[in-house]
Amino acid sequence: MLLLTNIGQLLTLRGPAAVRRGAAMRELGIVADAAVLCSGTKIIAVGPRREIARQAKRAREIDCGRRVALPGFVDSHTHPVFAAPRLVDFEQRIAGATYEQIAEKGGGIRSSVDAVRSALRRSLAEQVVSAVTRMNQHGTTTVEAKSGYGLDAASEIKSLEAIRAAAARFAGTIVPTLLGAHVVPREFSTRREEYVRLVIEEMIPRAARKTDAAKAPGSSTVRPVMRASSRRSASDGQGAPRWRSSGGSSRLAEFVDVFCERGAFTVAETRLIFEAARRHGLGVRAHLCQLSETAVADLLEFEPASLDHMECACPADLPLLAQSSTVITLLPGADYFLGLLSYAPARRFIEAGVALALATDFNPGTSPTISMPMVLSLACTQLQMSPAEAIAAATINGAAALRLAHSKGSIEPGKDADVAVFDVRDHREICYWFGENRCWAVINRGVLQARR
Ligand code: NIG
Ligand code: FE
Repeated sequence: MLLLTNIGQLLTLRGPAAVRRGAAMRELGIVADAAVLCSGTKIIAVGPRREIARQAKRAREIDCGRRVALPGFVDSHTHPVFAAPRLVDFEQRIAGATYEQIAEKGGGIRSSVDAVRSALRRSLAEQVVSAVTRMNQHGTTTVEAKSGYGLDAASEIKSLEAIRAAAARFAGTIVPTLLGAHVVPREFSTRREEYVRLVIEEMIPRAARKTDAAKAPGSSTVRPVMRASSRRSASDGQGAPRWRSSGGSSRLAEFVDVFCERGAFTVAETRLIFEAARRHGLGVRAHLCQLSETAVADLLEFEPASLDHMECACPADLPLLAQSSTVITLLPGADYFLGLLSYAPARRFIEAGVALALATDFNPGTSPTISMPMVLSLACTQLQMSPAEAIAAATINGAAALRLAHSKGSIEPGKDADVAVFDVRDHREICYWFGENRCWAVINRGVLQARR
């Protein structure tokens, strides 16, 4: 047993709702002078220090020195399988070119592909391990990781295998996503339907195929997906979760993502890809409304776990999103790094009752940061989210965006013992100090990882 004690402020994020909306995003369930008791990989008791201490005879004790503890961040949108930074794009943008202009001239996503195609799986796995380890040191305990820079069947599968190999070496949790539909690769530029067919007929079936857990490195850390109903239930998605457990075997991907955008894939193509994902039992999510407005209605029928970016979301769609189980994931790191002047309308989303999550979008083109605290800073200063709203979006709502709110995202008995301790006295400081790492300790499923 492990006892985290002498916690100055414990942000439990406990509560009946599996996902937070509106005013509920500001309720962090704070316990002062608190302790958390863990047994194995799970949390078994949470509360005032004296009360918990009585149940914790013979537990290994970690004195948190009155610091702030909260659920480990859930970074629900990252692209960690790439080989090199994109410094040419970076300089061209500084000189005034836009993301789309750079992509049209052969830069952008396509310029990351050759290096991934020629990389060994082992070296891609090293890159992923390096990224998730640094994320973990900044307080992130669960990471969604996408493929998407291979863009042929062999390289996309190799990317997913690299994610699986990295998961086997990572104490936190990784959720893998196939993003074969990131852009149409150069060799298919005049035959885009053929590329969509390749995603549907080759990549998705291979990504969805179950492999024996005993033979699959890292499969124990790849989490089964919980299905939510498309409509919000009275208990807001809490009800009895319907499990699609992968039992003793696991898939290379749990989700299929599509970059649905001008210059990438159309809504019609996205729907074909989502239909294939559904046939193969995979969840779906999409990059949407990053550069241009797209109506969400045609995609919501697929019950996407999340729609991400949404800077250019159509205001008329907000009520529809508020009624759905889909989480909207905002990625302000990308807007910051692209030097854009307008960020996503977070306040309008919150006021409309849309479930919001925050994630890094870690990738070499638009958001080279692994830091959730940096994203929280941007959420507060640029999206006008309150520190409490930002923290809820980065924990319990991030978990909901991965359909993992039953096991992640809050500090409650029965949940995974994923905890981050920050070297601050007040939770608002997590969002306040930027550009330095205040994370002091991380517990991944009951195992103390780092203490500074
Ligand atoms: O989320 N927009 C699409 N995908 C990434 C960017 C990928 C890249 O430029 O390499 C994003 O911003
Ligand atoms: Fe992205």
